[in-house]
Amino acid sequence: MASLTITSAGPLKGTISVSGDKSITHRAIILSALAEGESTIAAYCRGEDCLNTLRAFQAMGIQIEERPDRLRVRGKGLWGLTEPEQPLDCGNSGTGIRLLAGLLAGQDFFIVLTGDESIRRRPMGRVVKPLREMGAAIAGRKGGELAPLAITGSRLHGIAYSSPVASAQVKSALLLAGLYAEGVTRVSEPRTSRDHTERLFRYFGIPVQSDRAAVAVQGRPSVGWPGKPVIIPGDLSAAAFFIVGASLVSDSDVTITSVGVNPTRTGVLEALTEMGANIQLLNRREEAGEPVADLRVRAALLHGIRIGAEQIPGTIDEFPILCVAAALAEGETIITGAGELRVKESDRITTMATELRKLGASVTETKDGLVIQGLGGQKTKRLRGAACTSYGDHRVAMSMAIAGLTAEGETIIQDTACIETSFPGFESKLLELLTKSCRGL
Ligand code: S3P
Repeated sequence: MASLTITSAGPLKGTISVSGDKSITHRAIILSALAEGESTIAAYCRGEDCLNTLRAFQAMGIQIEERPDRLRVRGKGLWGLTEPEQPLDCGNSGTGIRLLAGLLAGQDFFIVLTGDESIRRRPMGRVVKPLREMGAAIAGRKGGELAPLAITGSRLHGIAYSSPVASAQVKSALLLAGLYAEGVTRVSEPRTSRDHTERLFRYFGIPVQSDRAAVAVQGRPSVGWPGKPVIIPGDLSAAAFFIVGASLVSDSDVTITSVGVNPTRTGVLEALTEMGANIQLLNRREEAGEPVADLRVRAALLHGIRIGAEQIPGTIDEFPILCVAAALAEGETIITGAGELRVKESDRITTMATELRKLGASVTETKDGLVIQGLGGQKTKRLRGAACTSYGDHRVAMSMAIAGLTAEGETIIQDTACIETSFPGFESKLLELLTKSCRGL
């Protein structure tokens, strides 16, 4: 089993780029496969999650040429997908399986979607239930609550759906199904989740209406959309590990270029800034309908804050690394309303509390969040290195690696192959930024 050994190191210095945005890469592959003609997708995320989505479209008859710096996708139009001979394996990807469930519910063929052991534990009812309301024929374990999902393509009709969870995966699954449905599909959610699907629809010229309350799409458009070049922004969720690392390790000064700063994703920047982090957004611009900037981060003393339900959707994937920041900050951090963390790649409330405690952090789990007593940052006590595990969760693995940088002694993280799901090259980027030795990487 792969592992990482980290010794305290620092400072982090230099300029790097990070892996392309995972969420946007999935969507760019989907929409360019449905476009008419060729699209290119530059700076795409080469993580296993996105490669599984890419392979799924190849299995459905879409030609995709894979180069290290770009994908070339020959789209076959809205109705151009064909039935694959095998079940589609979405691996570890919740986005992959849920978006594909929506997209495939309205086709005229049969398909089975599955994934790894973590995916087969995660809730699918949140997409299956509204898709069935649209007329989808989906079977799955526990009445459709768990994958594998078997989908018999059906004639769908639009619905107005009020989602009980703020989830871009649910919203996007329904919008994709909505393209194949009779009439209008309208989705509202308790708080606005990331809006990459809506932005990419617009970028490709697919009509979509959205306001604060809901997003709506007209089904069965009479004209298709042509292929386009897409440039994927750097993944803010990947950058977050280095943003926190640079904030915590004294004298660090790091610039991360071309990072996506979509306002539905920047909760981590807002939370860290409130904690006292020194983060500058430079050279702001737009690429493929998404705001992008270079981020300069310098070390700072952080203090604890409160993060409540309002801030959860915009920060959802960054809680593992925010917990590390909180463990080193001065004072208490209280996170509430974050029950969704329990159904991610791991139960991130339990996994982060358990692993940070092994390093000597004071962390208490609550039903829907965490209470973290910070050690007081660079001024006073430090974490101490220990043996930990990722539970097969990429974000837990990378968060514990950053925690290890600040700890006294050696931190060994077991089960780190999962980092490949979202951020191949994480270790080499970290090494690039380190000026002191970091054994085992
Ligand atoms: C994602 C949405 C989020 C996020 C996931 C990626 C997406 O999940 O946690 O990593 O690409 O739509 P939810 O929308 O279910 O919260």
